[in-house]
Amino acid sequence: MTRSSAPGKVYLFGEHAVVYGEPAVPCAIERRARVAVERRDDGHLRVNAEDLSLNGFTVEYGATADGRPDVDVPESLVTAATQYVDGAIEQVREVTGADEAGFDVTIESDIPLGAGLGSSAAVVVAAIDAATRELGVTLEPAELADRAYRTESQVQDGQASRADTFCSATGGAVRVEGEDCRSLEAPDLPIVIGFDGGAGDTGQLVAGVRALREEYDFAADTVEAIGDIVRNGEDALAEGDVEEIGRLMDFNHGLLSALGVSSRSLDTMVWAARDAGAHGAKLTGAGGGGCIVALDPTEETETALSFTPGCEDTFRAELAEEGVQRLE
Ligand code: PMV
Repeated sequence: MTRSSAPGKVYLFGEHAVVYGEPAVPCAIERRARVAVERRDDGHLRVNAEDLSLNGFTVEYGATADGRPDVDVPESLVTAATQYVDGAIEQVREVTGADEAGFDVTIESDIPLGAGLGSSAAVVVAAIDAATRELGVTLEPAELADRAYRTESQVQDGQASRADTFCSATGGAVRVEGEDCRSLEAPDLPIVIGFDGGAGDTGQLVAGVRALREEYDFAADTVEAIGDIVRNGEDALAEGDVEEIGRLMDFNHGLLSALGVSSRSLDTMVWAARDAGAHGAKLTGAGGGGCIVALDPTEETETALSFTPGCEDTFRAELAEEGVQRLE
């Protein structure tokens, strides 16, 4: 059996705009997906996923090689676990040349699903890493990130940037602009997450922004303005200016709201964080529901969020310096 883990991430700046070639800066956090893989002789793929979400939702199921679940589980969880794992295993077969290889794959994750913390990227990165190593092949982080990106892109009908998968594979703060992915120096950031217990549909949200951008010039301008914020954010990160980073996160959230991807619960949590004295707060990821990210070195934001209606969970997240981890 071979085991790997990979971290989730928050977007400090730039989600959605990154889809149109603007830069984005995600940052890996110490919330991980862990994947254990064991080769099977019969060429089948079996996926076991337990406790895939923070909100106590536990699911256990198996899936056959053609992706059919062998018990009745919600469609979204079948999609989340089996499609991504199927795609990851396809990449593993391609890169290793072991076309007929089958696996038992067990996933554990403390990253809520579809909530803007990069759960699918973390599962895919860890699964590809563990399964290739199970076959005796160790991929460099850049190749691992690329294979994981191809998986996400395929499952999400071509609507994926390289941001999540690169960040999860390499760890730390990263900058992604089109195909260009690199690591960034980042100060120690006092990251606080608020989670509304829900999830957004990334595909639908991305399609919504695309339609808005085609219909209204303001939306195209907003996407460009987010790119400007990201460039300012990079300077603030390089200078270690946490207050300025927070201020720019506030601007970024406003522009994401203008693009229609926030929600009442995300806005409520963002304002609760700001009222509690956070340097800044914004939604993270596709939006529609899920998580916000705030910067606050004190306990105030966490405390305020824990009393905020609609906030199901709040926690502090350390920056994950390491991306994929190869476990014993
Ligand atoms: O919600 P997440 O973690 O899947 O992030 C989506 C980020 C988008 O920019 C909206 C899409 C993408 O692939 O970059």
